[in-house]
Amino acid sequence: MMRLADRTTRIASSPTMKVTATVDRLRRSGVDVIDFGAGEPDFSTPDLVKQAAHSALDNNFTRYTPVAGIADLKRAICDRYRADYGVEYKESEVIVTAGGKQALYNAALALFGPGDEVITHAPYWPTLTEQIKLADAKPVLARTYPEDGFAIRARTILDAVTPRTRGIIVNSPCNPTGALVSESELAAIADVAARQGIWIVVDLCYEKLIYDSAAHNLPRVLAEKCRDLAVLCGSASKAYAMTGWRCGWALGPAHVIAAAGAIQSHATSNVTSITQKAVVQALTGPQATVTAMLDEYRTRRDLLHEWLTEDPRLRCRKPAGAFYMFIDISDLLSGIDPGGFRTSLDFADALLEESRVAVTPGEAFDAPGFIRISYATSTENLREGSKRLLEFVAAHAPRAAAAS
Ligand SMILES: Cc1ncc(COP(=O)(O)O)c(C=O)c1O
Repeated sequence: MMRLADRTTRIASSPTMKVTATVDRLRRSGVDVIDFGAGEPDFSTPDLVKQAAHSALDNNFTRYTPVAGIADLKRAICDRYRADYGVEYKESEVIVTAGGKQALYNAALALFGPGDEVITHAPYWPTLTEQIKLADAKPVLARTYPEDGFAIRARTILDAVTPRTRGIIVNSPCNPTGALVSESELAAIADVAARQGIWIVVDLCYEKLIYDSAAHNLPRVLAEKCRDLAVLCGSASKAYAMTGWRCGWALGPAHVIAAAGAIQSHATSNVTSITQKAVVQALTGPQATVTAMLDEYRTRRDLLHEWLTEDPRLRCRKPAGAFYMFIDISDLLSGIDPGGFRTSLDFADALLEESRVAVTPGEAFDAPGFIRISYATSTENLREGSKRLLEFVAAHAPRAAAAS
């Protein structure tokens, strides 16, 4: 077979999407699977948003639009960030993208290249490091720790800075840990970035999903410290239950956004015209649906935590944001019984095989020994899945044996 380009050997396809594909396959063959893998809201897109899409279609708003997005959407994004964070961005400083993923990809291609090091924190959402590699740069990892609630610390990030550091990517709230970066930690990172000329890219895709009142005005911190080095990436996917519509955005200095636009113009061009009209409605319309979904996620988070912690070997904390419980199962690994699980990957495979519960193994996030449960699913599913998980653990690792 003819050899493929080198870059294909440096990246792997999304492990989180692999879980979704397996669940799909099992379901199609009639198997009853509880899916804790999905990284997407189980809610429907709000009605007003769908209506805006219908009227876009009815009005034949179905042609190419400017690559960087229609003016009303760019304005809506700027207005949303002004209202939510008190930061000022002009239309020339925003680009509409096919999901937060493309916003981040455009940024990686526009800012990083061969020989550059780009720091991000681990455990991480795997796309972030793969995109760095696709830009021919090198990901450098700064660890976050469960005993510290996976808090993203300036010290560990800054310890990884070298003369080759070109960028720092921060994801807050973080997938998979649910942790936030505090404003003061980000400010300390931004001070160094400003002094040394390092780009800061912030992945804010879960910005609307923060449960308790936490100071999380990251755009303002960056605007004050290093506006000309900061790129903010956001998304309609999680906040407005719009994963399939594919709409995100990036805000940043005009020349960075222009470069992102040039890249996008040769890749995908504009985001679907109908989607853009729908997202104008999502951003400018009533935000009550966002709050309602957040309240529901909070209830589920609390219930799931209560159920799972019935077995102390499923070690987890309530996440501060996003919709994932990240569980340390290392007490259940290796040496439980000769045929026991050595890795969280083995554990997740067996859980799916025997108990029909799909979770994402920590290996997907560079965090072996953990599993990630998405609670973007109904309370009934959470109850049934937790029951199956607890029974599975009890069957494979009786408590007395674990204590010995
Ligand atoms: C941390 C993080 N960032 C960005 C995204 C991108 O989502 P989308 O491209 O649907 O906006 C995701 C999706 O799972 C994510 O988990």
